[in-house]
Amino acid sequence: MTTASIRVGIDDLAFATAHNVLDLKELADHDGIDVGKFYVGIGQTQMSVAAEDEDIVTMGAAAARQILQRHGTTGIRTVLFATESGVDQSKSAGVYAHGLLGMSAHCRVVELKQACYSATAGLQFALGIVARDPSERVLVIASDIARYALDSSGEPTQGAAAVAFLVTADPSLIEIESPTGLFTDDIHDFWRPNYRSAAVVDGKYSLAAYLQSLEGAWGEYRSRGGVSFGEIDRFCYHQPFTKMAKKAHDRLVAITESPLDAAGRAAQIEDSLTYNKQVGNSYTASIYLGLLSLLENAPDDLAGERIGFFSYGSGSVSEFFTGVVQPGYRSLLRTEHDRQVLDARRPIDYAQYRALHEHVEAVRGGDFETAAQTAGPFRFLGVRDDMRRYEAREAQ
Ligand code: CAA
Repeated sequence: MTTASIRVGIDDLAFATAHNVLDLKELADHDGIDVGKFYVGIGQTQMSVAAEDEDIVTMGAAAARQILQRHGTTGIRTVLFATESGVDQSKSAGVYAHGLLGMSAHCRVVELKQACYSATAGLQFALGIVARDPSERVLVIASDIARYALDSSGEPTQGAAAVAFLVTADPSLIEIESPTGLFTDDIHDFWRPNYRSAAVVDGKYSLAAYLQSLEGAWGEYRSRGGVSFGEIDRFCYHQPFTKMAKKAHDRLVAITESPLDAAGRAAQIEDSLTYNKQVGNSYTASIYLGLLSLLENAPDDLAGERIGFFSYGSGSVSEFFTGVVQPGYRSLLRTEHDRQVLDARRPIDYAQYRALHEHVEAVRGGDFETAAQTAGPFRFLGVRDDMRRYEAREAQ
């Protein structure tokens, strides 16, 4: 069989988020500013906030567990864990998740890093593995806790979530098409040196860099035979905050000289913003949370529609590619469950949020035990003898 004849893509997609939620009104009141700046100006209403006993491993495993419960582990010989907020300089967060999920030892597990882009690297690598051997299935996990300094301008654009998706031949959700456009540029718009727990960011420059990358990636996508703007029905962008997706889409409309009016532009992205508005930035997971939001919140059946994806990771690497929604995809969605997960988060006030933020820095570099705050399937117990400890609350 030649690779050209194999249809490859995303067969299932699940998400998890953190235990707590902060309404951005709490932050606006603390800052003494009009909440319209957050609700409307950056397009965010809430952000998920991690409890002491959860991290990227517990969220990533909670997302992946839903995939494995439905599909089993047979044929999964690769787990790719994408994150900006890695928990170890050497050991992959994916190996912790693999252990918690009780997966087969006959598996390659690695962590991928390039700011918010690396889940897309995971997707593209997975497509290559499946195209070479269609009996293989690849589990991609993207999990992040977006963290900026207290009282900084990036603070309202924090958040936390994980997605997991299964890449297979003959996918049931999205077939990924082959032309892609790439754009890499060695810049400092957002980065995080090893000694810091919160990102360093040049906010205004990062917005400009994102838009410039979109132009670069789109240009290469078209030069490599990608379809025209008019042949794409919906768009999913990396969403550090949802207004960024609107800015990006406006830019793409301008570049392509599309005659779409404001309502037409909004219709192409609106449903992809619903979950991210409530979760905040989830770095690597953000664009795929946008995809889940689109699939679960679009009132129409999207089968047959082509989605354009723009994945951006500061520093920077970006990619434009497309995928086609598959017939019958709706029967695979977990819409009620996912909405319930968002609604079930524990509301916290500004003081509780600040204490959790400060806790991360206070325990860095030493042994500690976490307080039991969550009720999810996996818990982060703390660090003993420099080793991270986790617990699965029930057998997997
Ligand atoms: N009502 C309605 N709107 C209001 C308002 C009010 N009362 N007050 C202000 N606004 C609007 C402003 O007009 C502005 O809108 P436009 O951008 O459409 O003009 C918006 O609210 C934001 O206002 P400011 O630009 O004054 O906000 P700021 O200077 O405090 O910072 C930010 C905004 C740069 C996004 C900052 O939050 C930040 O640095 N965030 C982190 C960096 C980031 O997310 N960059 C995105 C690209 S990089 C990337 O994508 C990778 C990644 O994940 C980080």
